[in-house]
Amino acid sequence: MDLKEKIKQKKVVAGVVGMGYVGLPLMVEIAKNGIKVLGFNRGQEKVDKVNAGTNYIQDVADEELAELVRKGLVSATCDFSRIPEVDVICIAVPTPINNQKEPELDLVIDATKKIAKNLQKGQLVILKSTTYPGTTEEVVLPILEKESGLKVGKDFYLAFAPERIDPGNEKYGTGNTPKVVGGVDSKSTKLAADFFRLFITEVFEVSSPAAAEMTKILENTFRLINISFINEMALLADKMNIDIWEVIEAAKTKPFGFMPFYPGPGLGGHCIPVDPYYLAYKAKKMGLKTSFIDTASDIDDFMHQYVVEIAEKALGKKLLTEAKILILGVAYKKDINDLRESPALKVIELLSKKGANYDYYDPHVPNFNDNGVKKTSLEKIDSDIIRNYDLIIILTDHSSVDYEMVLKAANKVVDTRNAIKERAEKVLKI
Ligand SMILES: NC(=O)c1ccc[n+]([C@@H]2O[C@H](COP(=O)([O-])OP(=O)(O)OC[C@H]3O[C@@H](n4cnc5c(N)ncnc54)[C@H](O)[C@@H]3O)[C@@H](O)[C@H]2O)c1
Repeated sequence: MDLKEKIKQKKVVAGVVGMGYVGLPLMVEIAKNGIKVLGFNRGQEKVDKVNAGTNYIQDVADEELAELVRKGLVSATCDFSRIPEVDVICIAVPTPINNQKEPELDLVIDATKKIAKNLQKGQLVILKSTTYPGTTEEVVLPILEKESGLKVGKDFYLAFAPERIDPGNEKYGTGNTPKVVGGVDSKSTKLAADFFRLFITEVFEVSSPAAAEMTKILENTFRLINISFINEMALLADKMNIDIWEVIEAAKTKPFGFMPFYPGPGLGGHCIPVDPYYLAYKAKKMGLKTSFIDTASDIDDFMHQYVVEIAEKALGKKLLTEAKILILGVAYKKDINDLRESPALKVIELLSKKGANYDYYDPHVPNFNDNGVKKTSLEKIDSDIIRNYDLIIILTDHSSVDYEMVLKAANKVVDTRNAIKERAEKVLKI
């Protein structure tokens, strides 16, 4: 039976390489629809966890994963010689940037090589990792063809389909977020699109992998620029004694032509502060400019410093070095446990450089490594605990925190997220 027929009859077996924030929810979504999935990951730890039915990703329901493993629909391995057992291979490995803010494709290349060595006729490879336009055809395709001796479009198929998952989003997950797909030829596009239609409600086909790669970067650069723009507006509004949060609420009443973005202590997460640099890198190589991205990144850097400035202002005569400071929230956004690129870490670094000490409370992040020092979250907060600090800095507005209590008990607050709705003299906002 060829791949088209296997997809049609739902007899396809899926492989997912990279079982992280993207890969594991994808495996669960595929398997929930009765399709067998084999996950590939380097390092035994996650593989053992999955095979034991133990969840490690917040967006995945513990019991659901355990049940799918029990039913034999989900399993995992480190052994790439098992690639021939699957029909479709999704690659979801990290695509970070280095210190020079340039793409690091080593993990994509490593995964591709391991797949290539085991690639079979009739298989479909789908790159999902976020990357610059051209990666699928210029980086992945040559490795697959060279190492396997097979020819794309004839022996195997290749497409790019970006991942749009928004960790912590209760409304939109893998299954109901539309999927964009672009293959290296029309057959690859069609096969990949039909594969996703087995478990995703809406699939949108584009004419090439580069168009699909650019779609993802466009979406994330759009967010980068708009968040940085509203941060700049917040800085201006502050100097003009205008409450930016009130202005955004007012602007939101316009039913067309305006979309609200909110200020904060800086950008965070694995995507928004990283992905636009993939585009900037590619543009630079082609002698093109990305002025919006450069400006947005400068504003973002400034926001961390600005939070420290407001903290100093809030403390008045008391020095940062003498103050008892409590940070509320260190995750990069509300209600998740992900610290990657969290602006809180950058603010903490600046505070520490100025000699400040701090405690923190984050119900989602029980501990983290602050430059070699293990920091542990307070177990709880209440009025007595809050009162004990000179300054509370809200860096992430987790829903479970009682901000009214914080407002009542605190001596001074710096609120970077508008978590405290009431306006009070002791609360300084971005
Ligand atoms: N996290 C998100 O919210 C999000 C959203 C959209 C897109 N993305 C993109 O998806 C991709 C994956 O991100 P993530 O957040 O899932 O990463 P992650 O770090 O959570 O998971 C990646 C997994 O891949 C494994 N891995 C790394 N190299 C490997 C290799 N060569 N072979 C096999 N396994 C390997 C790691 O051990 C890890 O388990 C990135 O390109 C990212 O930009 C992420």
